[in-house]
Amino acid sequence: MKKIKFGLIGCGRISAKHFEAIAEIDNAEIVACADIVESKAKEAAEKYQINAYYKDYIEMLEKEKLNAVLICTPSGLHPQMGIEAAKRKIHVVTEKPMAIDLRSADQLVQACDENGVQLFVVKQNRLNPSIQLLRKAIEKGRFGKLFSANATVRWTRPQSYYDLAKWRGTWEFDGGAFMNQASHYFDLIRWMMGPVESKLP
Ligand SMILES: NC(=O)c1ccc[n+]([C@@H]2O[C@H](COP(=O)([O-])OP(=O)(O)OC[C@H]3O[C@@H](n4cnc5c(N)ncnc54)[C@H](O)[C@@H]3O)[C@@H](O)[C@H]2O)c1
Repeated sequence: MKKIKFGLIGCGRISAKHFEAIAEIDNAEIVACADIVESKAKEAAEKYQINAYYKDYIEMLEKEKLNAVLICTPSGLHPQMGIEAAKRKIHVVTEKPMAIDLRSADQLVQACDENGVQLFVVKQNRLNPSIQLLRKAIEKGRFGKLFSANATVRWTRPQSYYDLAKWRGTWEFDGGAFMNQASHYFDLIRWMMGPVESKLP
């Protein structure tokens, strides 16, 4: 069976979920990983039995015959890395948020469109049992026509979370609570209510 070959960029906290999830899929495998901190790439490669590891993700994109990349780096880097993959006809799976500003999000979408590759953004909260129930109820029309929705983010992120890495809490790489945490909820509202029809000029 021909396997879909993934490369993973950013061997930090969330990468474990990607290594473990891909390992469960018969026709997919992670063949290489990259991290700017080389020891993290090496450690991940050893732990998950990945063939090759790199310090420079561009080198990985160039040398490995990848079908897709998994982007698990600080959020502000997602568009640039996705664009580099798209330019090489490599499909893009990026952690949320896909970008921390509209301009770079649009640039990523455009690069994927122009190069005929798929772009997928991780939004795993759609699979939460309560969210699935709500979505099914809406689909069945249980609440009638929806006119309004709101969401409240009740998560706590103590100082120790922001101390985990330098990029956290920065505008450039994290984007703030709206981009980082509330983007899950914004996605859910959009998923339940339908696409945006107009926006402020
Ligand atoms: N889906 C979810 O619920 C969820 C949960 C946690 C994190 N995330 C997202 O995952 C991303 C990463 O979060 P994390 O908690 O794993 O952060 P992390 O700091 O633990 O890991 C990021 C990794 O990227 C590496 N990195 C930084 N710059 C790089 C570069 N130029 N090239 C290669 N590697 C580079 C770092 O060395 C680090 O190992 C963020 O965008 C975050 O929003 C999503």
